[in-house]
Amino acid sequence: MAGLAYHLTTFGCQMNVHDSQRIEGLLESLGYEEVAEASLADLILLNTCSIRESADRRLATQLGNAKRFKAARPGVVIGVGGCWAQSLKDEVFARYPFVDVAFGPGQVDQLGAFLLSDSLTAQGYFEFEGFTADLPMRAKQTAAAWMQISVGCNQRCSYCIVPSTRGLERSRPLEDLVAEAERLVSRGAREITLLGQNVNSYGRDLRPQRRSFAELLVAVDAVDGIDRLRYMSPHPQDIGAEVIAAHVELESLCEHIHLPLQSGSSKILKAMRRTYNRERYLERVAMIREAVPEISLTTDIIVGFPGESEEDFQQTLSLAEQVKFDAAYTFCYSPRRGTEAAGIAERVVSPELASERIGRLIEVVQRSAHQRAQRFVGHRVEVLVEGHSRTNLERLRGRTRHNKAVNFDGIAEPGELIEVEIDRASSASLGGRATLVASATR
Ligand code: SAH
Ligand code: SF4
Ligand code: F3S
Repeated sequence: MAGLAYHLTTFGCQMNVHDSQRIEGLLESLGYEEVAEASLADLILLNTCSIRESADRRLATQLGNAKRFKAARPGVVIGVGGCWAQSLKDEVFARYPFVDVAFGPGQVDQLGAFLLSDSLTAQGYFEFEGFTADLPMRAKQTAAAWMQISVGCNQRCSYCIVPSTRGLERSRPLEDLVAEAERLVSRGAREITLLGQNVNSYGRDLRPQRRSFAELLVAVDAVDGIDRLRYMSPHPQDIGAEVIAAHVELESLCEHIHLPLQSGSSKILKAMRRTYNRERYLERVAMIREAVPEISLTTDIIVGFPGESEEDFQQTLSLAEQVKFDAAYTFCYSPRRGTEAAGIAERVVSPELASERIGRLIEVVQRSAHQRAQRFVGHRVEVLVEGHSRTNLERLRGRTRHNKAVNFDGIAEPGELIEVEIDRASSASLGGRATLVASATR
């Protein structure tokens, strides 16, 4: 087996990045080596995403390339994993006959079994039983690490493909997560982000002992040597007083919450099956800001959901004006196969109208992000150094506890926590210079 080369392309979210690290660990344990060009690989893998149509389009290009490489070198094996593969299941082979193996997010380990078998026929693996977190992992060791605390999602947001591609929520045991956090920190991690589709419901499925997300935060915060703790994403329905209090009590827990809104209209939230309304969202924001006044709040918003009237959209705009987010990811609604919302045929918002609305929303969000960022100007903030600035190699880049990117002058190594005096702030990033103090205080 030694000497075989693989090339893996990852699409989508951190869940897929995480699964890809497991795929790499698995392949290397089988003797495969990574190559930089897909055209040189014996095994071409695509770890796919299907969250919006744009993700499908990006994938189509890569699949076309893989097909060409295989035509030139017929022994090449092509595999597709991840959410897109799961959502199409066996249809993948009918539509893309050059694919040899397809597997869903819960079946990464089956890829190993397939590669070791003499099977010449295409195989698909789509059950939800596997847990990639139990597989060996090849991760580039960085100061900021991710930890998957659960897989799947028990919510049923009517627009979302994730419950059907990742299955029901399963939490990893708290002890395993603490052990993984200790391992990460011992290898140089200073910041850990806990990852799940709805982190607040963590642990409700664990037996014999149920656990809560707040308990997990306390346990990971207690790991020796952890400087920063983050999580993504909480669900506005479930984020409670205990988790908010943890932001005050736990030293490592950062002053940032990503709280996905989706819409400011209660009518649209109901159609989206988000299980909270405008008032409840605003209440949560008030609770959070009361506990940690300077916290950064970021969000996800969808525009153009079927039935969204100008009035509904105005509600989203006014909520964004009122909350003043530090940043927001904005998306035009994209119908996904098999979801409830994809079946809605009435009052569909045209792509032109959706893009006109998203433009207006981005303006509001950028204005508040710019305004909010000014609070850091003239202050010294703690920065976790990531490397060189993307636009100017003479400057450095890092992130604050509030999750703002900072470009700054100074001398420091990736992974160092340093103090930076901020002299400029925009909606996207801060600018400044490192102070001469060796290590930052908060
Ligand atoms: N579990 C997370 C989100 C995962 S998907 C949560 O609930 O917060 C990330 C974001 O993609 C969502 O918050 C939503 O804003 C967006 N999204 C999901 N499905 C979409 C669709 N069909 N069309 C447009 N945006 C979508
Ligand atoms: Fe999708 Fe909703 Fe689950 Fe998030 S909470 S993954 S948007 S179903
Ligand atoms: Fe992530 Fe895309 Fe799946 S966003 S959970 S890889 S559909």
